Amino acid sequence: MNRETVSAPSNIALIKYMGKADAVSNLPTNPSLSYSLKHLRSFVSIEKTKQDIDTVNSFTGEIQVELSEKAVKRYLKAFAKLKSVFALEDNYVIRTGNNFPSDSGLASSASSFAALCLASFKLACEEKSKKEALSALALSEDSNEAGLMEALSELSRKFSGSSCRSFFKDWSVWQNTGAKAIDISFKDLKYIAVVVSQRQKKVSSSVAHLEVLTSDLFTGRPERAKARCDKLLQAFEARDWQQAFEIVWAEFWDMHALFETSKVTFGYMEPGSLKVLRYIKQYWDENKDGPICTMDAGPNVHLLFRADQDKVFTEIKDKLSQSFLLLGD
Ligand code: PMV
Repeated sequence: MNRETVSAPSNIALIKYMGKADAVSNLPTNPSLSYSLKHLRSFVSIEKTKQDIDTVNSFTGEIQVELSEKAVKRYLKAFAKLKSVFALEDNYVIRTGNNFPSDSGLASSASSFAALCLASFKLACEEKSKKEALSALALSEDSNEAGLMEALSELSRKFSGSSCRSFFKDWSVWQNTGAKAIDISFKDLKYIAVVVSQRQKKVSSSVAHLEVLTSDLFTGRPERAKARCDKLLQAFEARDWQQAFEIVWAEFWDMHALFETSKVTFGYMEPGSLKVLRYIKQYWDENKDGPICTMDAGPNVHLLFRADQDKVFTEIKDKLSQSFLLLGD
């Protein structure tokens, strides 16, 4: 990895972005709320080349990534757009990789597109000037870091919706007006991804966003998600972790119910997912404490622990590691 490498974190949504109001620019049908996973990152470096095309390679060494032909095409298309935004005319070699296994069934599009946008901005500052790079984003020289992140986030959203939340430390909320950092008093959470399956998923999240609109249960979904987002923020404000767990639990089941009831039925839940969910629920019932638990469009289970939950964290980690591959803290 060279000095010029930039990185962006993955993020896990507690209120889900599912369903697009506009599929071209990835506008969501409802607000979403996520926590940035600072240890799970994508890395990107961009270097000028004499070749007559742009190319994408994966980093060699400890940073693993397997680039499918489709992923490379999507990445190059995004980079072509970024080059036109920043008026970059040369050709470049992009090197990319994640510090988490690409075959672990964890989404990496959020972190990889966020890292590409950050690296392209850095490149534009070097090749042109910071002033020109900022002006390409309709920002002035005295704009602050938050403004820059919000502008890059908006650009990145068009390449991968959920990537727009990967520009902010800790918590981020994405509403129709764009994504921004949000201050929530629970900080330095610990994270575990319970890898139930490493198989490539059959239905991509892009397809899921379209299919859910055909479910009868989609009626009222934007309102339900918005109400849950508001309630979750109130629960965090009141430092009511159990209430937060319950809201997040209902939210991911709501999303998975949409998958299972769309006109062309599909789903990601596997026996292993249910085993983990049952264990977590039982843990909560017995201890009146536990992690926040969620699932994305995949079979893996994501757990978030408060910084003071050392015992809970160790007990759950020890138990689940007997049957599953765990990633994270
Ligand atoms: O950004 P996309 O198109 O990969 O959609 C991601 C959707 C979920 O991961 C299922 C939910 C979310 O908000 O991240």
